Amino acid sequence: MKLFYLFKIILWFCSIRAEEYNLSGDAGQAYSIDILMGHPKQKLRVIVDTGSTTLAIASYARRENDEYFHVDNSTTLDDSGKEVQAKYSQGNWIGHYVTDFVEIPSLKNIREVRSDFAIITKSHKFFVNGSGWQGLLGLAYEPVGAWGEHVIVGSWLDSLECDLGKSVSFELKLCGVQSTTNAIHYGKFSMIVDENIPNNTSPFRTPILHKRWYEIGVLAIGIRHPNETLNNSIAPDTFVSDNPNEEMCQKLNQQKSIVDSGTTDIRLPDEVYRELVHKLRQESQALNMLILDEFWYHGEAACWPEPQEWLALPWLQIDLLSDVADNQYFTLEIPPQNYMRVVTARNSSGDGGSVSQFCYKLGLEAGGVDTVLGYTAMEGLKVLFNRSGGWIGFDTSSCGPNARVSGPYTVPYSFIDSCKLTRSDSETAVSIKAAQWALCVISIVAGFVLIYLLAPAVRMCILRRRQSSAHSVSQDALVDQELS
Ligand SMILES: *[C@@H]1O[C@H](CO)[C@@H](O)[C@H](O)[C@H]1NC(C)=O
Ligand SMILES: *[C@@H]1O[C@H](CO)[C@@H](O)[C@H](O)[C@H]1NC(C)=O
Ligand SMILES: *[C@@H]1O[C@H](CO)[C@@H](O)[C@H](O)[C@H]1NC(C)=O
Ligand SMILES: *[C@@H]1O[C@H](CO)[C@@H](O)[C@H](O)[C@H]1NC(C)=O
Ligand SMILES: *[C@@H]1O[C@H](CO)[C@@H](O)[C@H](O)[C@H]1NC(C)=O
Ligand SMILES: *[C@@H]1O[C@H](CO)[C@@H](O)[C@H](O)[C@H]1NC(C)=O
Repeated sequence: MKLFYLFKIILWFCSIRAEEYNLSGDAGQAYSIDILMGHPKQKLRVIVDTGSTTLAIASYARRENDEYFHVDNSTTLDDSGKEVQAKYSQGNWIGHYVTDFVEIPSLKNIREVRSDFAIITKSHKFFVNGSGWQGLLGLAYEPVGAWGEHVIVGSWLDSLECDLGKSVSFELKLCGVQSTTNAIHYGKFSMIVDENIPNNTSPFRTPILHKRWYEIGVLAIGIRHPNETLNNSIAPDTFVSDNPNEEMCQKLNQQKSIVDSGTTDIRLPDEVYRELVHKLRQESQALNMLILDEFWYHGEAACWPEPQEWLALPWLQIDLLSDVADNQYFTLEIPPQNYMRVVTARNSSGDGGSVSQFCYKLGLEAGGVDTVLGYTAMEGLKVLFNRSGGWIGFDTSSCGPNARVSGPYTVPYSFIDSCKLTRSDSETAVSIKAAQWALCVISIVAGFVLIYLLAPAVRMCILRRRQSSAHSVSQDALVDQELS
């Protein structure tokens, strides 16, 4: 009997622990997670990034930060000697394609795996001063991985699927700051092995249109008043050709729209951005808020001596294509606490001297042609990335701002046509999807045969990368690298 209670207590304790945050980040920094690399294990910190594919880690001391992966200390590292590189919307790096053991200790259901990754040997504007992270954990698809001559670095997720022999999904529950007097944000990253799903828990899903980045159909973005009940922002009768909404939809998706946890703001094509910010500014003026144009238009911080709640400002609504039918959509409802981002929260009342200061920046930015839903659009929501299923699910979350999801709404025409969205067909055959993990590779550049013979778990993996990579570095992939 006692044993039984002990068991229950342990279970209860485990379930509490399971809800623990494993992500955190300073103001303006993306969410990062602890990772163990090599043998003996070295503990490092990496950003959880759905906007890139490759696990990339610093291998030298930088001016900004002297923590890095000590390559010489790992007895299990395998360096292919191949030079690879990657470019991001901010910064780039050059490094080597290697494999070694990688473990994320906070993911209890995922064991250590030998994974492909890149060690960064040289970088430009990539690392941020005082950021506390040493690399990126890319979670997107292989075609946009770091690349070199005849080679693309495989992702940790691919290595993991290969090891498990099953496809995996992951969930990001980003919670934002814990209180208005705190600028550090928290969240939870979890992995779900696809076959352990009792039933489909994400009511609102948007299809991944191309499996490179997480490319989705963002149909509209607008504002809504807090005391208004939600109304269709794409009312059927107003969405006809030559209508501004159709124009907006085409503008939003002209190049691509992506979900990117490694980006802070919601980045919009210039015109859409200007229109939206103009509306927000008008609203704040109508409310007699003293916010300067530098805040709205030039990315400057606005500060107050006490924390702000922004209850009167309008919400954002972001309409996403539904995966049920191409004339259906649902809406992310984003409260002002998301887009009025805390950048400084300093409470010094009590101790004399310094002054209390609470500063905010606008979580929206103009970015040329792409639409990027950065973590500002994800905080307060639970976002499930189902890679093999090809969809992203959005749901309300138990933590963070009270963002919501509503819908579905139906229109009498196809968004694919009217917004000129394209879907890549190559991935749609179910049989191909099912076979994907079975064909995956742990590309151990040297010693492949040895591991093939010794590790039964690896046997099902077939050496594919070396043949296929030569033609996957297509012009397309290169162009996309440039665009990222
Ligand atoms: C690397 O190895 C050296 C010598 O064995 C040791 O002094 C050092 O602490 C190790 N560094 C790390 C990061 O493990
Ligand atoms: C990084 O920030 C620290 C203080 O936060 C400063 O002393 C140092 O000069 C900065 N380094 C660079 C390279 O900007
Ligand atoms: C919202 O509330 C404000 C003030 O309480 C009011 O003036 C305004 O008309 C309301 N808007 C709607 C759509 O109900
Ligand atoms: C919603 O929109 C319809 C027409 O598009 C309008 O008649 C109705 O009053 C709106 N409802 C609210 C609550 O704003
Ligand atoms: C600032 O700190 C003081 C005491 O340290 C506390 O009483 C006060 O509520 C805090 N202010 C805010 C806005 O949290
Ligand atoms: C991912 O999608 C596939 C196919 O739609 C489904 O079988 C699987 O259960 C999904 N995984 C999760 C975690 O929802």
